[in-house]
Amino acid sequence: MEELFFSNSALLAAAAVLLSVFLLLSKPRRREPYVPEAKGAWPFIGHLHLLAGPVPSHLVLGKMADRHGAIFAIRMGVHKALVVNSWEIARECLTTNDKVLATRPRSVASEVLSYDYAMFALASYGEHWRSVRRMVMTEVLSNRRLALLQHVRESEVQASIKGLYDHWKENNGQPVEMKKVFGDIVLNIIFRMIVGKRYEDEKDEQARKALRVFFESLGKFLLSDALPYLRWLDIGGHEKEMRDAARELDRAVQGWLDEHRSRRKLEGKRKGEDEDFMDIMISTIDEGRGEQFTDYDADTVIKSTCMSLVLAASDTSMVTMTWALSLLLNNKAIGLTNLKATPLWVLVKPRLPEHLYNV
Ligand code: HEM
Repeated sequence: MEELFFSNSALLAAAAVLLSVFLLLSKPRRREPYVPEAKGAWPFIGHLHLLAGPVPSHLVLGKMADRHGAIFAIRMGVHKALVVNSWEIARECLTTNDKVLATRPRSVASEVLSYDYAMFALASYGEHWRSVRRMVMTEVLSNRRLALLQHVRESEVQASIKGLYDHWKENNGQPVEMKKVFGDIVLNIIFRMIVGKRYEDEKDEQARKALRVFFESLGKFLLSDALPYLRWLDIGGHEKEMRDAARELDRAVQGWLDEHRSRRKLEGKRKGEDEDFMDIMISTIDEGRGEQFTDYDADTVIKSTCMSLVLAASDTSMVTMTWALSLLLNNKAIGLTNLKATPLWVLVKPRLPEHLYNV
C-alpha cells in the first residue's frame, strides 16, 4: 500500500513538473515587434500587391507613413523591409546603427550582373566591401583625382552644349529630350574616368545594348526576389535576359582590360591625368601595391569595380539633373526667368543656405 502511495506521489510530482514546464513553454510570449507592420499584407506576397499597383510606390509608402508613423515594417514576399519617414530616424540608421543596416538585399539581378556580388556597390558589409571601398575612395573619388580630371568634366559639358546648339540650328529649334542629353554627358564622363574612352565612341552595339539591360535590370524587382522558391520558373524570362547581358558585358569589359594591359606592356604606365581608373586598379592589384583581395580573382575585382562606378554614377546623376531642370522650368518664381541667378544659385537657393555651396 505504502509502495502504491509512494509511486502515486512520484507520478503526481512528475505530472506537476511536466505541467509547469508545459505551461512555461506554452505561455504566450509577449515579445512586442520592434516596429509595427503596416496593415494590408496578404499571405505569401505581403505588401507587394500595394506596391505593384498603378500608384507610385513613394505615394503608397507616404500614405502608410501617415497611418503608421515614422517607422514601420512591410513585407515583400519572404523579406521584411523597414520603412523610415523622418530624417532623425534616417540619420540614426546611417550613423549609430549603420553597421547593423549595412547589409544589402540579395536579388537575382545583383547576383547575375554583379559577378556574384563582387561589385562593392551591391555587396553587403564585409572584408571585400571594405577593401574595394577604401581603394575607390583614395584612388578614384579623392579630391586630388577629381581635380586632376576636371578637364574631362568641363570638356564633356562644353561638347554637349555645342551639340545642343548645333541641333537647335539644324532643326529650327525642335525640342530636345534632355534626359538623353544628361545621360550622354554622364556616361561620357564616367567612361573616360574609368576606362579612358568616351561612351559615344564605343562602337560595339552588342555591348551598348547589354549595358542598357544592365542598368534597367538592376532597377527591377522580380517576383523571384520576393518569392525565391519560384526562381526556377524564370517567369517572364528576365533571368535569361540578364545572363545573356552579363555575358556580353563581360566580353566588352574584359576586352577593355586586355587593351589596358597590352598598352602598358607596349607603352609603359600612363601618368597623371592620362591614367584612368582601370590603369590604377591594374597597378594596385596586378602589382600587389595596396589592397589584397582574397574573395575574387584579380580580373573579377577590376571589372566589377569599374562597372560598379559606371552604375553608381550614371542613372543617379542623370535623373537628378533631369528633375532639377524640370523643377526649374516649372517654377517661374525661382527658375530660369531669374536672369541674375547663376544656375547653381537657382538650384540650391530654395533648399539650403547659400554659404554651404560657396556660391
Ligand atoms: C546625384 C547623383 C547621385 C545620387 C543621388 C547618389 C546616391 C547614392 C546612394 C543613395 C547610395 C547608397 C546606395 C546603397 O547604399 O545601397 C550611393 C552609393 C554609391 N554611390 Fe552614389 N549617388 C550619386 C552620384 C554618384 C557618382 C557620380 C558616383 C561616382 C562617380 C557615385 C558613386 C557611388 C558609389 C561607389 C556608391 C556605393 C558606395 C558603397 O557601397 O559604399 N555616386 N549613391
